[in-house]
Amino acid sequence: MPTMDAGLEHIIPVPTTGTEAQDEPLLIRALRREPVERVPVWFMRQAGRSLPEYRELRTRGSLLELCETPELAAEVTMQPVRRHGVDAAILFSDIMLPLHAIGVGVDIVPGIGPVIEHPIRDASGLSRIRQFEPEEDAPYVTETVRRLVAELPVPLIGFTGAPFTLASYLVEGGPSKTQALTKAMMLGQPELWRELLNRLADIGAASLRAQVNAGARAVQIFDSWMGSLSAADYREHVAPSVRRLLDQIEDLGVPRILFGLGTNHMLEEMATSGAEAVGLDWRTPLGIGGARLGPDVALQGNLDPSVCLCPWDVVESRTVAVLEQAPERGHVFNLGHGVLPETPPETLTRIVELVRERSMVTA
Ligand code: CP3
Repeated sequence: MPTMDAGLEHIIPVPTTGTEAQDEPLLIRALRREPVERVPVWFMRQAGRSLPEYRELRTRGSLLELCETPELAAEVTMQPVRRHGVDAAILFSDIMLPLHAIGVGVDIVPGIGPVIEHPIRDASGLSRIRQFEPEEDAPYVTETVRRLVAELPVPLIGFTGAPFTLASYLVEGGPSKTQALTKAMMLGQPELWRELLNRLADIGAASLRAQVNAGARAVQIFDSWMGSLSAADYREHVAPSVRRLLDQIEDLGVPRILFGLGTNHMLEEMATSGAEAVGLDWRTPLGIGGARLGPDVALQGNLDPSVCLCPWDVVESRTVAVLEQAPERGHVFNLGHGVLPETPPETLTRIVELVRERSMVTA
């Protein structure tokens, strides 16, 4: 009887996960919304300029050169794990690396970001975006991942740029506040746009597949600039390419995290992407975000990175506030965007300790 069935659902205990699940790393269990003994924590851009040991290594070469040297890329990836004791490592690379590797002239200019030698604005530009073959084009990435998984005490997160965010750099030629040329292509040359995004989705999927095959245990799709679109434009002109990317790697069985900045007006679009987890920035409280995203999605975030520049009592109360807003299951603590270069490293270490202490299940 329908009423009885509905009533019973409440009293049948939800099966607890077996012992084999306990062998899975904390991060993976949290991303799958399984029970955890405490909230895992890592930071976007945890490797990089906030660390003196990174700045020291960086004097040996450009960012892309570091990425192309497995020994150095692996070392930089491990630095924050050693220093802060975070629960995950993120591969040291850049969202532009596969594009650089297929011969699109990309320079990553310190203090500015990616700059494209010949921006993509028409069909002849598009013809330069060929498929990425990880083993031939960037064997150093796979080599870096292999080295890391042999040494790391925590899972490695692989990543890619999402089609829209990559397209915005390619079309604008560099960072842009308005994404005006990108939107003009999207609305004015929809066929060219669709083909560009499909190619970028296929590049992202190939890149993630190689990282996972080499040992990455979770992946993050950075759609950093998706928030510059309306929900309707995102749904019509961008979401299909994100689904195309995510669908191509579904068979790998690793949790997929979709991150975007300023996405409060389009959380429903993120919820229907197929990703197991969504990274929120600080504008959306986790409680509200969780309610809107629904019970099937894990949440990652979302301390404002600027808070890390404050005195400890402010950092402490804001960190605790994030934990209090978080859903009981399926939370990975992170910042709402990347670590700012001026962040004192000690603050990040203390946040890791605080999250551990405060989120511990003491039953
Ligand atoms: O620790 C980690 O998170 C792993 C490494 C990582 C880098 N870039 C290294 C890097 C990751 C995950 C990225 C992703 C990335 N790259 C994104 C998505 C995340 C985000 O911040 O929204 C974007 C948009 C890029 C493109 C990019 N590359 C930008 C905007 C910049 C900053 C330019 C600047 O100097 O301010 C870069 C350069 C970059 N990528 C650095 C690092 C450590 C800066 C350091 C350097 O020049 O040594």
